[in-house]
Amino acid sequence: MTGIEGLRAHWGLTRTPFSKDLAPSMLHGHRAHAEAVARIGWCVAEGSIGVLTGECGSGKTVAARAAVHALDASRHTIVYLGTPGVGLRGTYAAITSALGGVPHLHQSALIPQTQDLLAAEAAERAKKALIVVDEAHLLAAETLEGLRCLSKAWTRAPSSRWCCSASRP
Ligand SMILES: Nc1ncnc2c1ncn2[C@@H]1O[C@H](COP(=O)(O)OP(=O)(O)OP(=O)(O)O)[C@@H](O)[C@H]1O
Ligand SMILES: [Mg+2]
Repeated sequence: MTGIEGLRAHWGLTRTPFSKDLAPSMLHGHRAHAEAVARIGWCVAEGSIGVLTGECGSGKTVAARAAVHALDASRHTIVYLGTPGVGLRGTYAAITSALGGVPHLHQSALIPQTQDLLAAEAAERAKKALIVVDEAHLLAAETLEGLRCLSKAWTRAPSSRWCCSASRP
């Protein structure tokens, strides 16, 4: 018996360990993980952009998931962007869609539409929005700059929250 089956048999495991669907309560809270979760929590509390870097498989996505899980769901709106290679327009459209809007066709209208929807989360629902960008190394410079500008406009409201998760140092 070889490969993963051999591994399971050797250790007497009933399922493959380190799967992608571990519930936050099943995670190992080792020091680096706890530190990453705490730092993301600090970014959320401060409303700042944070970048999490580390080797492949080191637990960046898991840490972001754990940090999001620790937030009060009734007080936060999470926008998860898992494919950030879609360019500036695609990113704004994804945020707009996640907030329940129908993205405007023209970028000049889409940008204020996204800003308005983010502001409405705070004004109408008393919720703080958090944008999680996974695989953030795929962000084009223009997209990152667009997100930064969006955060600047957005941080005029006290409710803005940001987090970036990058994959490679
Ligand atoms: N704290 C943890 N407790 C238990 N398992 C973990 C923990 N951190 C990571 N893992 C395991 O390691 C796997 C890889 O973690 P994760 O997907 O977060 O890595 P990554 O740094 O985001 O990788 P990539 O650079 O490929 O995106 C997860 O599927 C999970 O099974
Ligand atoms: Mg990842």
